[in-house]
Amino acid sequence: MHGWMKAAASVLAVALALSACSTGEDDAVPAATTLPSDASPAVTTTAASPATKALPPETTALPPTTAAPESTTTTAPEAETTDAVADAAADPDVSPPPGAGIGDSFYPWLGNSGYDVIHYELKLDVDPDTNTLDGITTVHGVSTGELEKIYLDLSGLDVSSVTVDGVAAEFSREQAELIVRPATPVPAGIGFTVEVAYSGTPERINDPGVPFARIGWFNQNGVIFTANEPSGSMSWFPSNNHPTDKATFTIAITVPEHSTAASTGVLVEESAADGRRTFTWQMNDPMATYLAAVYIGEFERHTQETRDGLIIRDYIPSSLTDEQRQATLEALSVTPGAIEFFEELLGPYPFDAYGTLVLPFSIGFAMENQTLSLHGDRTLIPLIIAHELAHQWFGNAVSPGDWSEIWLNEGFAHYLAFLYLADYGGHDIAALMANELQAARNANAGPPGSITVAQLFDFPTVYQRSTLTLYALHRHVGDETFFEILRQHYQRSDGGTATTPDFMAIVAQHAGPDAVALLASWLYSPEIPTTLD
Ligand code: ARG
Ligand code: ZN
Repeated sequence: MHGWMKAAASVLAVALALSACSTGEDDAVPAATTLPSDASPAVTTTAASPATKALPPETTALPPTTAAPESTTTTAPEAETTDAVADAAADPDVSPPPGAGIGDSFYPWLGNSGYDVIHYELKLDVDPDTNTLDGITTVHGVSTGELEKIYLDLSGLDVSSVTVDGVAAEFSREQAELIVRPATPVPAGIGFTVEVAYSGTPERINDPGVPFARIGWFNQNGVIFTANEPSGSMSWFPSNNHPTDKATFTIAITVPEHSTAASTGVLVEESAADGRRTFTWQMNDPMATYLAAVYIGEFERHTQETRDGLIIRDYIPSSLTDEQRQATLEALSVTPGAIEFFEELLGPYPFDAYGTLVLPFSIGFAMENQTLSLHGDRTLIPLIIAHELAHQWFGNAVSPGDWSEIWLNEGFAHYLAFLYLADYGGHDIAALMANELQAARNANAGPPGSITVAQLFDFPTVYQRSTLTLYALHRHVGDETFFEILRQHYQRSDGGTATTPDFMAIVAQHAGPDAVALLASWLYSPEIPTTLD
């Protein structure tokens, strides 16, 4: 097949997936979505995958626009979440008390104020057979004002004890808040430590931004993995659950001897005792809570390296046949080149390592967990591998300051993935974008700069129109200025968060008011602008 058609096919796969009704959940294969044969993913690792060319929407990493009722499709063996606990976390109609909430316009209850977290230390003892965990999370924070109460975001699970600076503290639960009352108030401007001991089966969160799946801690077909974005991390550890409070992490996971536990960061220690094995992972760069991951199952580790010696450690299922293993490794072999491509455009890869964890089944999305992206077995195509990789710069190193500005994540990752695809496959970016424009028009994509929470992962609006937004800017200002703008955006906010006005200011500085006006029309005008026609 001609390279261009291959690209078109993967674009088509994305478009077709959108018209199919999917759950993104545990995962019923929906009615046939027929694709051209070469649009098949590079790898198929499940024996049960359909023999025909009909592929489920998992073919793309990208969320479907149509939510299906979960009850008709879920086969999850785990406990069901209670809506009362989970939904309240993001209830926009009830104002949080002072201290609970950090001011996100979509999620008033997410995050907390009065302190900054510096480091999280998680010790999770997990029994995969029963999907239960025994956890201790230690939050090392600095108070920004006097704290009579310390709010942490936590949904479900049983808390058995809390200490503040080693002294037992009273605590209560309300909505998805763990409210801690230190024996004596924490004075303003000092370091403090909260240690929370808890246990139970994590219950995934109903998040109004992710109507197509519950999020957080998944237990599926004997594998445990996490996909938190945006609110799900509170299903498995207490935190200041908002990207504006990033911190470093140590995550130690204890599992049965035969299991492997992987996480975000660098594996710094592995030890065994009493038939259990502990894997300790260290994230040395600031990380938003939604990007922290736990993966438990039977995996084998394979490593690759970029020209500059960045280690890529991929985790693939131990259960693969030789042929599947070879196909999986072959699909993942684009990673070093893709990293080098982005490094040339954007500057050095932001973290200590990269890699992909591949599940032995399909899921309805892929997820850019920091340093170790998550893929099901049907998303290992260059566009989607590059998309999750590009998020390491935009999304992870630079995170959204408010969830309503998620175009800064998905538009950047998707446009950069297309630039990679164009380079890798020898395609014309203009032709790729003409397709996206048509698709966005057909779907009547709205303005990505003014979405509702339910549109957080709306594909035409947040992925396609944001991609076109950046392409329109790129065409308007030319290569040199465009990549200078991207590099500035990355450098200025690396390790923190950025907002649309932050990005606009860089555009204004490098490209002037016409470029800002162009950007604004793509982001905010109800109609799709005609500047690319
Ligand atoms: N950020 C993911 C991506 O790269 C989308 C994840 C949506 N799914 C979810 N469970 N939050 O497109
Ligand atoms: Zn994405």
